[in-house]
Amino acid sequence: MKRVVANDAVGSAASLAVLDGAAPDFSDPSFSDTVIRWQKQHGRHALPWQQTRDAYRVWLSEIMLQQTQVSAVIPYYQRFLARFPDVAALAAAPSEEVMAHWSGLGYYTRARNLHRCAQRVVAEHGGAFPRDPDLLQDLPGIGRSTAAAVAAFSYGVRAAILDGNVKRVFARVFGIDGYPGAKPIEDAMWRRAVALLPEQGVESYTQGLMDLGATLCTRSKPACHTCPLAQRCVAFATDRVAQLPVRKPKKAIPEKHTGMLVIIDRDQVLLEQRPDSGIWGGLLSLPEVDSETAITRAMAHFGDIASCEALPSFTHVFTHFKLQISPFRITLAHRLDIAGESTHVWYPAEKLADAPLPAPVKKLLLEVFQDADQR
Ligand code: ADE
Repeated sequence: MKRVVANDAVGSAASLAVLDGAAPDFSDPSFSDTVIRWQKQHGRHALPWQQTRDAYRVWLSEIMLQQTQVSAVIPYYQRFLARFPDVAALAAAPSEEVMAHWSGLGYYTRARNLHRCAQRVVAEHGGAFPRDPDLLQDLPGIGRSTAAAVAAFSYGVRAAILDGNVKRVFARVFGIDGYPGAKPIEDAMWRRAVALLPEQGVESYTQGLMDLGATLCTRSKPACHTCPLAQRCVAFATDRVAQLPVRKPKKAIPEKHTGMLVIIDRDQVLLEQRPDSGIWGGLLSLPEVDSETAITRAMAHFGDIASCEALPSFTHVFTHFKLQISPFRITLAHRLDIAGESTHVWYPAEKLADAPLPAPVKKLLLEVFQDADQR
């Protein structure tokens, strides 16, 4: 087992500082030094949007790169620029044409926002993208991270990005144990992102974080052995690279409850045809009730009761919910005629093993009749 050697601020002296009410100090110039040095030597330098500081081109690439891989973006980026070479051309274009040039990239809200954003840059900023990340963030389709990337790449503004890739790098390097989509974890990651910004070289640093996340610190099969941050990576040191970042917690699945009536008349049991749609659609099953009064009502409907016994409840798990089943074993002294009810059928016990029943219902019935045989 590897030892924890890293300077993790979560769970160490720095988090005690949180308890004292003081903000933890996440700054560490050696972090950005390492990222910048690695980016210069091993990062990506030939991407089409890296050949310019034109904010329009940078912005366009950042919007296209949201949720889409570099290789898919490149041809779209080039075709888009050939047709809409500047923000004024995009703002003036009919929306059908903008959508047509986006067609195939997916997430079409991006294209609608892109068009509206271009129109606002022309109308409100004289056709020049603002350099202040707060003003950028006020435009359609530009969140905090995209605003920072545009400001950094176009104008060299010292602003912090935090996209999905960077969250993954931070979660692993700093051993952050919470789900990065949770507000307190995300807020702490933003504070960290800001504190780690270099004094100089924000472009290389920002590109370096993106490149690390996209090429080494990948979701699966990360290349830790060539990673410049491996020596300081808490996840690597503690063998938790595959566990971090923490995945989105699954929603608790809802639990429903039903009463099932096992109504027995000698060696037959009363079954009910289920509706074609919904769970167990089209199968035979047991009559169901949702309350004790409903049990009494149902029993009166089918005959005179000799006995009624509550059997142990059990839970059946479906993909989207759990069903707690409370069975009642009811024997009849006298069966009423149900000939007119096409949904109900008296079924011979010895044929239950081959009946079209849901698995948990079949199991229950086979147990009930096995017990009856043994009595
Ligand atoms: N993903 C988001 N922005 C990017 C950029 N500028 N270069 C490469 N990948 C990115």
